[in-house]
Amino acid sequence: MKMLNRVLCALALFAGLSAFVHAAPETIKFSHVVAENTPKGQMALKFRDLVAERIGDKYVVEVYPNSQLFGDGKEMEALLLGDVQFIAPSLSKFSKYTKQLQLYDLPFLFKDMEAVDRFQRSEAGQALLESVKGKGMVGLGYLHNGLKQLSANDPLRVPADADGKKFRIMSSDVLAAQFEAVEAVPLKKPFSEVFTLLQTRAIDGQENTWSNIYSKKFFEVQPYITESNHGVLDYMVTTSTEFWMQLPDEDREVLQTALAEAVAHGNKIANEKAMKDRQNIIDSGRSQIITLTDDQRQQWVEVMKPVWTEFQEQIGPELIEAAVASNQ
Ligand code: SIN
Repeated sequence: MKMLNRVLCALALFAGLSAFVHAAPETIKFSHVVAENTPKGQMALKFRDLVAERIGDKYVVEVYPNSQLFGDGKEMEALLLGDVQFIAPSLSKFSKYTKQLQLYDLPFLFKDMEAVDRFQRSEAGQALLESVKGKGMVGLGYLHNGLKQLSANDPLRVPADADGKKFRIMSSDVLAAQFEAVEAVPLKKPFSEVFTLLQTRAIDGQENTWSNIYSKKFFEVQPYITESNHGVLDYMVTTSTEFWMQLPDEDREVLQTALAEAVAHGNKIANEKAMKDRQNIIDSGRSQIITLTDDQRQQWVEVMKPVWTEFQEQIGPELIEAAVASNQ
């Protein structure tokens, strides 16, 4: 009997050990809505590669671009349900969870991407990453895309040109107010539907960055793009508290470092990519880029800027001040 017990113990130990030795790496899903050839697409692929290189025996990152797995509107829910482990939604898409990030949607808040960067690195900017804490999410860092431009079926030079026109917007009340300020009609729609809405002329225009306008071919169905640089489209790389906290400390550290490096890579290429895609659009001859005169731009500023007052209580006046200060 003793002998039998010993044999059984040895077998159990062997089975346990071989299961350990052959354990398949855990799959980490990174879902996003844009094309691969964008700052976010490239960041996610870099993260996948760094994880494979550094801790590939334990984790494998699968990247799902182009809303393949979840579109916006669904990706945060999927994260909280544990169906994906990483997402990087636009900062405009968090308003269901925090009102503070609405800051980034205020029109004409930042004069350029350097100012955005300065603010995001500041204490106030870093503290904002914590605004989703307690909502089941962990904000791991900011990722740049760039400044937004206005595209439309007709030329937009002054605010009156937008009067009565339908614009697709991300799910943000600030962006809705921004278009209402110019008497336009804002429609909250998922990113994956924008091309078709533009192509079928169900809407007249939209706002987006050069890399999104180029990679999603919006320029092929929008004859005019006004280089307005009126707002920023950046991201928060986000994971779920549940996933993040159950990781062994040493694995979490490796993943966090890999992610920080991937984000640095995405941020490094963002501006270059924006300028390249702007040029690609010019070269295509499909869309005319409208450069505003100082006076025309000032008209947009004057009409849109009162939106700040409407949202300052929800966002926090001190945050707005800190963001404005980053322009110096
Ligand atoms: C994105 O860049 O993630 C999508 C932006 C949009 O919805 O317009």
